[in-house]
Amino acid sequence: MTLAEYVAQQQLRIDEALRRLVPSETTTPESIHRAMRYSLFAGGKRVRPILCMAAAEAVSDSPDGIESPASTLELIHTYSLIHDDLPALDNDDLRRGVPTCHKKFGEAIAILAGDALLTLAFQVLAQLACDPECKSRLIEELAVASGTVGGMIGGQVNDLEGEGKHPTAALLEAIHRAKTGALLRASLRMGAIYAGADDEQLAALSCYGEHVGLAFQIVDDVLDVEQPSEKLGKTAGKDEKQKKITFPAVYGLERSREMAEHERLAAHVALRPFDERAERLRELADFIVQRKA
Ligand code: IPE
Ligand code: IPE
Ligand code: MG
Ligand code: MG
Ligand code: MG
Repeated sequence: MTLAEYVAQQQLRIDEALRRLVPSETTTPESIHRAMRYSLFAGGKRVRPILCMAAAEAVSDSPDGIESPASTLELIHTYSLIHDDLPALDNDDLRRGVPTCHKKFGEAIAILAGDALLTLAFQVLAQLACDPECKSRLIEELAVASGTVGGMIGGQVNDLEGEGKHPTAALLEAIHRAKTGALLRASLRMGAIYAGADDEQLAALSCYGEHVGLAFQIVDDVLDVEQPSEKLGKTAGKDEKQKKITFPAVYGLERSREMAEHERLAAHVALRPFDERAERLRELADFIVQRKA
């Protein structure tokens, strides 16, 4: 199976799980469920759940039920995108190739749809059929990675407060590691924990996740400069307009690409303790750095 076929297959598994986990559009109050499903099923690469499942597969042959914890990463990620696009944050009109949630449903429902996806993620984890120790570790991983200290919200705060400020290399890396890297790293860790990884496997997958997580946001910044909106499915060229602290702003495009490549190679090195079972993770690191959207 090629990587493209593997990714398509994993996307289907995740979409099926999300369809099952999120209340239907006819469940009352209908407007919030329509908004949640609108943003979730508008598209999206499903990179975080796919990494989660690939990490689990690197550790164990059949991590049964992995789709549910993997889907919680997409619930959190989609919530973060809905809020990231709000007028008070990045003020974006286009996401995943369609109008942003607040453009379609209004600001109040978009805020609540984000809140609802966040809340649902933890409900899904709480209802997992795995052993209680595993469950509480998964909940902690997702909470910390989404939180204010080194997690997604903390990174978003630094990103917003950094607008227009003189960008330093240290601040740049801290923003990227937190706003995007933390959830990517948690994707690997949650897959590993669910599959029963030992300490060495967990450490290796964490290290891989850190490198891939940083690479992911470097590439996001580069694509914002290089690609048109139609290709990205979101408004291109916004970072410069909003004076964001980005890799291209600090290092320029060429050096940024080299740094993403450096992270890709470091991600490969982190996987050395694994045999061919981690091959998909190696391919996914390459995909994340070489993608054009
Ligand atoms: C975009 O994430 C926002 C970042 C954290 C960089 P993705 O590039 O994963 O967006 P989707 O899920 O494919 O739409
Ligand atoms: C967003 O970063 C990271 C999140 C936590 C959502 P960006 O603001 O660069 O994401 P895009 O480019 O709008 O997708
Ligand atoms: Mg943003
Ligand atoms: Mg944004
Ligand atoms: Mg961006």
